[in-house]
Amino acid sequence: MPEILTFKDGRDGQSFEAPIEDDSIRATALKPAGLVSYDPAFLNTASVRSAITYIDGDAGILRYRGYPIEQLAESATYLEVAYLLIHGELPTQEQLAHWADDITMHTFLHENVKRLMEGFRYDAHPMGMLVSVTAALSTFYPEAQDVDDETIRMQQVVRLIAKVPTIAAWSYRHSKGLPYVYPDNDLGFAANFLSMMFRMGEPHYHADPALERALEVLFILHADHEQNCSANVMRSIGSSKADPYVSLAGAAAALYGPLHGGANEAVLRMLVEIGSAKNVPAFIDRVKSGEGRLMGFGHRVYKNYDPRARIIKQTADDVFEVTGRNKLLDIALELEKIALEDEYFVSRKLYPNVDFYSGLIYQALGLPTALFPVMFAIPRTAGWLAQWLEGVQDPEQKIARPRQIYTGAAERDFVAIDSRRATAASTS
Ligand code: SDX
Repeated sequence: MPEILTFKDGRDGQSFEAPIEDDSIRATALKPAGLVSYDPAFLNTASVRSAITYIDGDAGILRYRGYPIEQLAESATYLEVAYLLIHGELPTQEQLAHWADDITMHTFLHENVKRLMEGFRYDAHPMGMLVSVTAALSTFYPEAQDVDDETIRMQQVVRLIAKVPTIAAWSYRHSKGLPYVYPDNDLGFAANFLSMMFRMGEPHYHADPALERALEVLFILHADHEQNCSANVMRSIGSSKADPYVSLAGAAAALYGPLHGGANEAVLRMLVEIGSAKNVPAFIDRVKSGEGRLMGFGHRVYKNYDPRARIIKQTADDVFEVTGRNKLLDIALELEKIALEDEYFVSRKLYPNVDFYSGLIYQALGLPTALFPVMFAIPRTAGWLAQWLEGVQDPEQKIARPRQIYTGAAERDFVAIDSRRATAASTS
């Protein structure tokens, strides 16, 4: 029995049918009734079919290609997860070795990029630098515009996963007036990033294994999250057949916003502003009265505890074993405790999300607050690219071009300038 949604137009009594596929109907089924669907911010609209990441927001489930995030965080490395997202399967030993070598061989940036980065002020936000330099890489690899060539697509995938950490680390070194540290091919993905961030005069950087593993886990947890704001941008820009460098720059720009990946930076600034656990009740009252938001709380999909926040909270303990406990954790724990018992947050199903605890770890690792969104963009590069690859190869996809509901002026004739009078709207 085909599943059909039948709906009746109350204006003329006509009935229409829409086939139900995968618990959805196509918006184009409304066309015979002369209707479009209206869904600002896509609250209830699927724009793609995807096999990459599965989220069950009510149950707090997150899986990459079917593998539960808890198992990947426990047992995988970030490059294994990046391979899984891009290729759809966990790599064999040989595939992982080849993948890791490929990534390692592409971590360097063209020397001109150094001069490009020197043009930024010392206090330039590293996300602004990341967005700009990622887009600029498009000019170094013009062949990337051939997005229909699989070999060329995969070359750019490797280049971006490999080079984004280098751009990120160099943006930090630029802000400190320190010399850039070149990638060290003898180090793994996370250790190499720490080396490019913190190596000084010593010939080789030796990362603490516990901190290196904590960073790998954070990278795994941030690697993808289905059709979030920045993934939607990556797909939308990619739908015009723009190259993956400018597409990823756009995705990183979306991530920068404080409602998205910029929230981890906003959480740290919020905790510093609260200053002490005893100030938490007053802060919560201000949020409930509409003064700002409890950053790091809430999620469009998760109406339960974000499974990533739970793992990050556990990872924080491992990091603090090495670095010493971050005092701001006490404030964060008090915020969580009070919020989870308060009707305002409970009724709105607001729970800690991935950004609530991650900044405490980054700060304990010695990273500046402004770099926190960049720490989100580094691992999410693999997710954005997996989404882009799926989008450019999806036979159902076309250039993204939504409809609108027009609310502007009806047709009117041009008025010569000497006949125009300022209206209330135009006097501002
Ligand atoms: C990420 O989409 C993804 O998957 C994103 C992400 C990923 O991995 O890619 O998970 C990463 O972006 C996590 C979210 C990080 N952002 C923050 O922590 C910023 C604070 N949170 C929010 O602003 C908010 O919760 C969003 C943006 C995350 C979700 O917003 P929605 O789904 O659009 O919900 P909403 O803004 O309509 O809020 C619903 C209600 C409102 O109250 P009422 O108007 O009904 O009275 O809940 C309130 C909001 O005011 N609310 C909050 C709140 N979040 C929502 N009130 C106080 N503090 C908050 N954090």
